[in-house]
Amino acid sequence: MIFDTHCHLFDEAFKDDLDEVMNRAKEENVSKILVLGDTIENSKAALKLANQYEEIYAAGGIFPCSCHGLNLDESLKSLETLLNNDKVICLGEIGLDHYWEKDKQLLEEQELFFIEQLKLAEKLNLPVSIHARDSIEDVYRILKEYCPSKGAILHCYSSSPEMMKSFLKMNIMISLGGPVTFKNAKTPKEVAKLVPLDRLFIETDAPYLAPMPYRGKRNEPSFVRKTLQEIAYLRNMNETELEDILYENSCRFFGVKK
Ligand code: NI
Repeated sequence: MIFDTHCHLFDEAFKDDLDEVMNRAKEENVSKILVLGDTIENSKAALKLANQYEEIYAAGGIFPCSCHGLNLDESLKSLETLLNNDKVICLGEIGLDHYWEKDKQLLEEQELFFIEQLKLAEKLNLPVSIHARDSIEDVYRILKEYCPSKGAILHCYSSSPEMMKSFLKMNIMISLGGPVTFKNAKTPKEVAKLVPLDRLFIETDAPYLAPMPYRGKRNEPSFVRKTLQEIAYLRNMNETELEDILYENSCRFFGVKK
């Protein structure tokens, strides 16, 4: 079985054929799927899907670029209400994005929302799923102080193996997605070989970042098998053996029954 630990199935891209997408996931043994919100509204949409499909679990959070202009206290209150649900197993997608935003004031606001949501995760006893784009040093600095006891996943990890070692000293997991299958993805391939097996997760980030041979197309949970196969190849491992280990990791981390 496979646990797709990061995707966004409420996206418009799935509005016409989600049932078929879910059926194809089943055919590839993708039996658990974590759908993460990036705004309050999308977090509600994620939870709605989790109530519709047994395989889907939900996470809610405010994405760094979506936090501007929001009232912090009100947002945290809505988020807390929303996250208080049996099908919610994580807080996210949260983090820092220095790629899309460079303005100092915007970055300060991102950081404030990031830290406050990390504190909320601690209060609610939830792990977090983290987006770090061109911001890994800052994410590291903040997690050193605020990483929740339940841990954090660095989603679609794309930084160096050295940086990974620093994160592994904390309760932090490394999740790899489609880019590990790209021919020119030297660093993710190196990370895939080096990450301790009990700290490794896989994901699609659907509808984004489709693995080879679907690169550039809409991504969907069934494609996560391509990522699994590539990592098995890179580590010279049996695919089923790796599949079992990763599934076990994810279920343990999120506290869901196998
Ligand atoms: Ni995402």
